[in-house]
Amino acid sequence: MMKRATKRMHRDMTLASDTSAIDFDRGGSSPQSLIDPFQRAITYLRVSVTDRCDFRCVYCMSEHMTFLPKADLLTLEELDRLCSAFVAKGVNKLRLTGGEPLVRRGIMTLVSSLSRHLASGALKELTMTTNGSQLHKYAAELKANGVRRINVSLDTLNADKFRSITRWGDLENVMAGIDAAQAEGLEIKINMVALKGVNEDEIASLIEWTHGQGMDLTIIEVMPLGDIDESRLDQYLPLSIVRARLAERFTLEDIDYRTGGPARYVRIKETGGRLGFITPLTHNFCESCNRVRLTCTGMLFMCLGQNDAADLRKPLRASESNEFLYSAIDEAIARKPKGHDFVIDRRHLKPALPRHMSMTGG
Ligand SMILES: C[S@@+](CC[C@H](N)C(=O)[O-])C[C@H]1O[C@@H](n2cnc3c(N)ncnc32)[C@H](O)[C@@H]1O
Ligand code: SF4
Repeated sequence: MMKRATKRMHRDMTLASDTSAIDFDRGGSSPQSLIDPFQRAITYLRVSVTDRCDFRCVYCMSEHMTFLPKADLLTLEELDRLCSAFVAKGVNKLRLTGGEPLVRRGIMTLVSSLSRHLASGALKELTMTTNGSQLHKYAAELKANGVRRINVSLDTLNADKFRSITRWGDLENVMAGIDAAQAEGLEIKINMVALKGVNEDEIASLIEWTHGQGMDLTIIEVMPLGDIDESRLDQYLPLSIVRARLAERFTLEDIDYRTGGPARYVRIKETGGRLGFITPLTHNFCESCNRVRLTCTGMLFMCLGQNDAADLRKPLRASESNEFLYSAIDEAIARKPKGHDFVIDRRHLKPALPRHMSMTGG
C-alpha cells in the first residue's frame, strides 16, 4: 500500500517537473481571449481524457464498443499543455470527463499538475464527471488537488436496475465512492439520465435521497449520439413531461442558480434542495453556450450537437512554442456554430451524430 502511494507520488512529481518546463504561455503573441462569432465568451473546457470506460451504459455505448488504439491518445503531458493553452486564453473552468476519467492511467498526475492553475488564480474551477466506480480510491487525492465539486452519474438506486442500465456496474461500489467523496467534503451533483419506462418512476426518490444527503440532482434528456443497441425513441423521455409530473407532487420554485453549465435549476420547496434540468431536446440552451470540448486525441468540438471539429494535435506537435496552437484555437472558435438541433421522433431514428457521448464527454 505504502509502496504504491510512494510510486504514485514519484510519478506525480515527475509530471509536475516535466510540465513546469512547459511554460504557461510558451511564447508567440500574447494570447487573446476567446469570443465566438455570436459574442459568447468561451470560458469552459471539457476534456474527455479517455474514450474507454468500465461501464457500458445502454444510452451511451453499445455492448461491444470498439475503442481507440491507446497509441492514438494524447499523453498526459500533451493534455496538460492543451488545457494550459486554453487557460492562458481565458478558460476558467475545466472539467475532466470521458469515457470514465478515473480509468485513465495516471489521471491523478494530470489533476495534480493542472491544479497549479487553481493556485495561480487563473482557473476558478477544476472538476470532473465520473461514474463513481473508482471514486473510493481517488476521492482524497481529488480533494487534495483543489477539486471542490464533482458530478457523479447515477440513474437509479436499485442495484438490479443499475446493473442492467450500466451492463457492468456495481451500485454498492458507486455508493462507497459517493460516501468517500462526501467524507472528504467534496460537493456532489448527481446526474441522472431520464429513461422512459426504466427510471421514470424513481425520479421522486432520487430527489429525496440526493437532497437528504445534501447533494444536488440534475436530470438529463437522452441525446441521439452514436449507435447503441436500442432505439432512442424507446429511451427518450421529454423533461417537459417529467417536470409537469413532479409539479403534482412537489413545489418547484425557479431559481437563478447557475454552475456555468447548461442546467436550469429549481428549488424543491419540500426538500430545500436544488434540481437541475438539462433539456437539449425540449428546450435548446445554446444561446448562452460558453463551452467547447476536447477529445483524448486532440480534436476540439465547438458544439456537442455538430460534426465540425478542429485538429489541435497537429499544431501542438508542430512546435515547442504555442503560437500555432493559439492560432488553431482562435480559428476553431471563429467557427463555433450558433447551436444544435437534436430531434428524436419516428422520422429521426438514426443517431443525429455518429460519435458517442464518451468521445466528447458529457
Ligand atoms: C459520457 S459520461 C462521461 C463521464 C462518466 N463516465 C460518467 O458517466 O459520468 C458523461 C455524462 O453523459 C451522460 N450521457 C452519456 N450518454 C448520453 C446520451 N446519449 N444522452 C444524454 N446523456 C448521456 C452520462 O449519463 C453522464 O452523466
Ligand atoms: S455514461 Fe459514462 S459510465 Fe456510462 S458508458 Fe458512458 S462513459 Fe461509461
